[in-house]
Amino acid sequence: MKLLGISGSLSKHSKTGIAVNKALEFAKEFDESLETELVSLSDYDLVFCDGRNPDLYIGDTRRLIDKVTDADVYIIGSPIYRGTFTGALKNLFDLIPNDALKGKAVGIIATGGSNHHFLAIEHQFKPIFGFFNAYTVPAGVYVNNSHYNNGELTDTEILERLKKLSNQTVRLSALLKRPFNGPDQPEIKRETLQST
Ligand SMILES: Cc1cc2nc3c(=O)[nH]c(=O)nc-3n(C[C@H](O)[C@H](O)[C@H](O)COP(=O)(O)O)c2cc1C
Repeated sequence: MKLLGISGSLSKHSKTGIAVNKALEFAKEFDESLETELVSLSDYDLVFCDGRNPDLYIGDTRRLIDKVTDADVYIIGSPIYRGTFTGALKNLFDLIPNDALKGKAVGIIATGGSNHHFLAIEHQFKPIFGFFNAYTVPAGVYVNNSHYNNGELTDTEILERLKKLSNQTVRLSALLKRPFNGPDQPEIKRETLQST
C-alpha cells in the first residue's frame, strides 16, 4: 500500500513538510509494509492548470499527477495562507483527475503562524476532499509555529496527535479496501402525500 505525504508549502525549510514527514514515520512504525513517500511541492516544477486533460501534461507536472493518482492513501498538509491552504496546493488539486482520490482515505495537517485558523481544516480543507469523493479522518492536526524548536517539531501533544492521525488514516484505508459481504442497506419505504 502506497502512503503518499504531500506538503503544500513551497518553502525550502517547510514546517508543514516536517509535520507530514513525522506522520509518515509514525505510519511506518505501525505498518512496516507501507511504502511511504513525501512530496514537497517545492521539489516539482509544476505548471498552472490550464484545463487540459490531465494526461496531456508533460515533465514534472505529469510525473506528480501520476504519483498522486497512483497512491492508495494520503497524509496531506498545507501551511495556512490567508486563512486557507496554499494556492500551490489548490493548483495540484486542479491538475489531478477528478477521480484521483476517489474512495481513498486522507489525513489532514495544517500549519499556521497562530491558532486563529484551526477551523480551516473543517471549512477549507475537508470540502475539497468531499469534492474528490475521498474519506477524511475526522480529526485533522493543526500545528502552529510555537510547536517547533530549532527546526524540529518538539511539542509532545502535537506529536501524539500526529501519531493518532497516522494510525487512523492507515486503519481507515484498510477498512475501505475490505470487501463488504453484508446485506444491502434496508430500503426505507416512504409514504407519499396523497392529495385529497
Ligand atoms: C502569504 C502568507 C500568508 C499567511 N497567512 C496565514 C494565516 O492566514 N493564518 C496563519 O495562522 N498563518 C499564516 N501564515 C503563516 C504560515 O502559515 C506559517 O508560518 C506556516 O508555519 C508556514 O509553513 P511552511 O513552513 O510549511 O511554509 C501565512 C504565511 C504566509 C507566507
